[in-house]
Amino acid sequence: MLRRLNHAQPESFAFTPDNLAWARAQVTKYPEGRQASAIIPLLWRAQEQEGWLSRPAIEYVADMLGMAHIRALEVATFYFMFQLQPVGAVANIQICGTTSCMICGAEDLIGVCREKIADKPHQLSADGKFSWEEVECLGSCANAPMAQIGKDYYEDLTAEKLAAIIDSLAKGEVPLPGPQNGRYASEPLAGLTSLKEFDSGHTQYNASVQRAVDLGDTVKRIDGTEVPLLTPWGKQSGVTEETDTDAPVLSGDAPIDETGIDRREAPVESKAEPQAVAPAVAPAAAAAGAGTRPAALEAPREGGADDLKLIKGVGPKLEQLLHELGFYHFEQVAAWTADEVAWVDQNLQGFKGRVSRDDWVEQAKVLASGGNAEFPDRVKKGDNE
Ligand code: FES
Repeated sequence: MLRRLNHAQPESFAFTPDNLAWARAQVTKYPEGRQASAIIPLLWRAQEQEGWLSRPAIEYVADMLGMAHIRALEVATFYFMFQLQPVGAVANIQICGTTSCMICGAEDLIGVCREKIADKPHQLSADGKFSWEEVECLGSCANAPMAQIGKDYYEDLTAEKLAAIIDSLAKGEVPLPGPQNGRYASEPLAGLTSLKEFDSGHTQYNASVQRAVDLGDTVKRIDGTEVPLLTPWGKQSGVTEETDTDAPVLSGDAPIDETGIDRREAPVESKAEPQAVAPAVAPAAAAAGAGTRPAALEAPREGGADDLKLIKGVGPKLEQLLHELGFYHFEQVAAWTADEVAWVDQNLQGFKGRVSRDDWVEQAKVLASGGNAEFPDRVKKGDNE
């Protein structure tokens, strides 16, 4: 397919202040003289802001990175992820048309798009809310046929299901993504046929769907206010508030430290012998949100941290996040009050609400007392690891 710039172009483009701060921070990830390496994330952010990539946006990004316009145009026109014409205000529906999906009914899905959106791909629906296109394999072949809508996958689709999803989106709703035929992930529809001993304790949704549920709206475009800027090297690279009045700053109520940068990934200063649960001098700076921050430790006590992964619902990522917040021991979790649970629930970036959902406090009480009555399988597995 020939990828050309759209015939109608806006006069100009400029990043919003939030996106400009984010873009400047991205550029600092690359060594001096290699700033052009940031071209793809910056073009992507420009597309998120506008909905599609206009020529002024491509040239603006090129200018920001000190690149010749033609080089940025080459990138934008090469990658299919960049939309070179306006897309639906609500969603651009990407139907996978590769082998597995084609065999399992992708053509029916395309038929729905033709009927409900526009006869041809890359055209807007009459109300401007939708557009559609056929794309190559999106890597979800075991859940064919599927479509990407917004940031998420809608899998195991039928024509009827896709039509209902489009209707729902048109009403301003965000339908639950993931398998649409009742499957948890990509297991056999009738349930596991082998390795059945591992079919226990999973959460209501698979990890991908749960993430979408946590985010709440995976169709909304990124606008620069969603996540803190993680560029803790900013000061070392000379980008400081003193030298750059446009230095990266956080948006909204995201966690923030005195520099305006979330430093939760920065190394934690060690303390010789952490003994008692310290007051709120946590490694991570105080975060925003409801509730009260529980007392935290700067490091695990002598003997090392407990294996917090024994708490059902806590994986390696969440365990790391808990450590960054200063929680290392079952005893700490077991002591959280309802108010403190509310704080932690709010401050588990990307995993909000997990503490109460999986009742960590009750689990931690059992584990802290050395018991395993309530969660015998999981504790047993941990012991065997
Ligand atoms: S063939 Fe459709 S996701 Fe792979």
